[in-house]
Amino acid sequence: MNSDLDSEPLLQIEDLRVEFTTAAGTVEAVSGVSFSVAENQTVAVVGESGSGKSVTALAVLRLLDGGRISGGRVLWDGRDLAELDTRGMRRVRGDEIAMIFQDPMSSLDPLYSVGHQVVEAIRLHRRISKRAARERAIELLDQVGIPDPRSRIDAYPHQLSGGQRQRVMIAIALACSPRLLIADEPTTALDVTIEAQVLEVLRTVQREYRTALLLVTHDMGVVAETADWVVVFYAGQVVEQGPTAEVLGDPRHPYSTALLAAVPTPTTDKALPLAAIPGAVPSLHDTPDGCRFHPRCPQAWDECATTTPDLYALGGGRTSRCLLHRAAPHGTVAAVGRESA
Ligand SMILES: Nc1ncnc2c1ncn2[C@@H]1O[C@H](COP(=O)(O)OP(=O)(O)OP(=O)(O)O)[C@@H](O)[C@H]1O
Ligand SMILES: [Mg+2]
Repeated sequence: MNSDLDSEPLLQIEDLRVEFTTAAGTVEAVSGVSFSVAENQTVAVVGESGSGKSVTALAVLRLLDGGRISGGRVLWDGRDLAELDTRGMRRVRGDEIAMIFQDPMSSLDPLYSVGHQVVEAIRLHRRISKRAARERAIELLDQVGIPDPRSRIDAYPHQLSGGQRQRVMIAIALACSPRLLIADEPTTALDVTIEAQVLEVLRTVQREYRTALLLVTHDMGVVAETADWVVVFYAGQVVEQGPTAEVLGDPRHPYSTALLAAVPTPTTDKALPLAAIPGAVPSLHDTPDGCRFHPRCPQAWDECATTTPDLYALGGGRTSRCLLHRAAPHGTVAAVGRESA
């Protein structure tokens, strides 16, 4: 973990908007999202299904399928990614930012051995011999905890367990020594024990490679153990963000409070804790006026249905999109349109 939250942002998402055109019309899946990831920092993005977490991650890498960035910008190391051409973007995607998805089976090619795939990833970024790349691949597989990597390197994806496949994906992601790793629900498909092991691998390699990590997850337990900073999404917007210990220990937005109250206890299943919040995320075709959370909010009053809340500063870099926080704790009204980590 990195406690130096003031270092220069590596990734800066500013007022990002993403639209999809569907048969039923144009919908906005991400509505003015802003947050940053600093060098070597772990930022967790949390929120219910459909809140725009994956779309935001994909928009950063311009991998939106059928969607388009309709507003805002994404700065990578100070450069506006929109200004890069396809080749420049491909270079960033390969060399500087790597992404791990939820389902490793869909990202690995079943026709090639895992070793072949790791070697290819290495040789895409480095001009080294096949033999040297194979040695490096064995080293990477060892680092991500594949047992007996020298023989497992020739296994095919279907011969590995789900957890091992995800480890291979991490090895492939690390092949380019990325400065930022984006992991979108990397452990959702795994059982709890394997999930913990894969997360431990992520944390270890992050320390070793000094990689920043943008971790999309449903799981507040994972956030608590992994992240320096947490960004809470609701219906395509950031509703709260701040240092993990503060947001988890003292959530301020009523949605964050509900989300944390819904965290499962060790006796309940890890799946779907958020179903415990009454109601559902609004449809993109019909987002509520005023605060998007007001129909489900236990603290809502009349004005919440009509006045759209800004992001209000709570001090210490924390922000909340709730009318309760219009007046910051230190007495002044402090609305911030843009925020950064
Ligand atoms: N290709 C697409 N076409 C139309 N709508 C889309 C497309 N991709 C995503 N959306 C919509 O954008 C919204 C946000 O989706 P997104 O995948 O970002 O949610 P999420 O927060 O990652 O949810 P989950 O936790 O289930 O992964 C959803 O309402 C989804 O239906
Ligand atoms: Mg998602």
